[in-house]
Amino acid sequence: MGQTTNAPVKSNGHDGAASSGRSSWSGKWGFILAAAASAVGLGNLWRFPYLAAKYGGGAFLLVYILLVITFGFALMMAESALGRKTGQSAIGAFRAFGKKYMIIGILASAVPFIITPYYALIGGWVTKYMFSYLFTPSSVIADDGYFTGFILQNPETYAWMIAFILMVVAVAALGVKRGIERVSKVLMVALIIMAIAISAFSLTLPGALDGLAYYLIPDFSKFSVELVVAAMGQMFFSLSLAMGIMITYGSYFSKKEDLEHSVRRIEIFDTGIAILAGMMIIPAAVAVQGGADAVAAKAGPGLMFGVLPQVFNGFNFAGDIMGNIVGFAFFALVFFAALTSCISLFETLVSIVDDATGRGRAFSIAVCAAFVTVVGVIVNMGYDNMLSVDLMYTLFGIGEYQDSQLLDFFDFLSNTIMMPIVALLTCIFIGWIIKPKVIVDEVKQSSKFNGEKLFVVMIKYIAPIFVVVILVAYILNTMHVITL
Ligand code: PHE
Repeated sequence: MGQTTNAPVKSNGHDGAASSGRSSWSGKWGFILAAAASAVGLGNLWRFPYLAAKYGGGAFLLVYILLVITFGFALMMAESALGRKTGQSAIGAFRAFGKKYMIIGILASAVPFIITPYYALIGGWVTKYMFSYLFTPSSVIADDGYFTGFILQNPETYAWMIAFILMVVAVAALGVKRGIERVSKVLMVALIIMAIAISAFSLTLPGALDGLAYYLIPDFSKFSVELVVAAMGQMFFSLSLAMGIMITYGSYFSKKEDLEHSVRRIEIFDTGIAILAGMMIIPAAVAVQGGADAVAAKAGPGLMFGVLPQVFNGFNFAGDIMGNIVGFAFFALVFFAALTSCISLFETLVSIVDDATGRGRAFSIAVCAAFVTVVGVIVNMGYDNMLSVDLMYTLFGIGEYQDSQLLDFFDFLSNTIMMPIVALLTCIFIGWIIKPKVIVDEVKQSSKFNGEKLFVVMIKYIAPIFVVVILVAYILNTMHVITL
């Protein structure tokens, strides 16, 4: 394993090229596992299944996979090679080519500031469910109103969120050393095995096979511009792209190792787990709620907390306690995946604040912890109806989001607005300013570049045009100028 952590370590400043012994993954697999630990999180287990359920199952899945192997591949190659070449995290990496490009790094760095607070809020929900399975009969947790009763106007939610943040901060303060990475390997395998077992069980529920068909067979009448926008945002979120993280991780990667092979492995791993999570949740949701349309209409952030408990309760056929055992094991694994990802998000915030202020790690941890807590509380107030969300939506003029929560709004802001913009600027920067050759040469330092043509065409033409067309179509559609 690497001598380093699964989280980005603070940038070592302004030393230019990466020849200075900065690379600190022990090898290719150190990088792959660290990146996978960051990538695999609530995005795969919580966000992917509800988006897939909402946007027509198979049609969403297909678009998502296509995006990962083309656009996602090109962007991940670009970011990690940029990091390896410059030996810097996002802001420094762009600055290395001229001061005026620093803005791209700054925008990228803003993204984790939006995501981390609401990520921690959901992390708190997961923590609550993990503990609930220890003390509350699974049949009670499976009740329809259990989840809404918990998240709406309930002071308890603040406590769970803060508990989750404290754990993240504690690990950050101790320094995330080898231990957590070793543990994450074991837990990742456990997660995969559990997910396979739970999906197999869900598929035995009456009606689940219809759900499986809904999930796997694309129905092109479900195709829409929102679907594509959602799939694109999810791809950035899940692969930890367009927010500078892969640049930082790339900066610790050895000049001798095969970058392309590693990027492919990370994508396969991350996408495999997302698909598996969908297998676990969507057929079960269709079975439990009686039909794909009902699921599509109701699918939202609560899907995981509403449907899976009903599935777990079904395990009681093997004894009253089974539902609790399976539920606990499952949420413990989700908790772990969320914790490792949140640690990597939090580390990113800390390194940005530290680089910007130069006041040291302890100071930066304190500032970031305070920030995440305060914004997290505000996001949670959206659920508590203590804060008028409608006002925000009126201000931003996004009528469709009127009924949603502040959480959805932050999620929308980062995944649908900021990340596509950062991705677009990154493509223009690499495709037209420094030229793809810089990245290609960097990759070729250590290996062949099989996807070179794909990379160049994607970065220069397809990806930027795609982002612009999709975003413009989406905005016009939302403003009802056109109907797609
Ligand atoms: N990729 C993580 C997930 O899918 C979220 C994340 C993004 C974590 C960026 C770290 C950095 O949950």
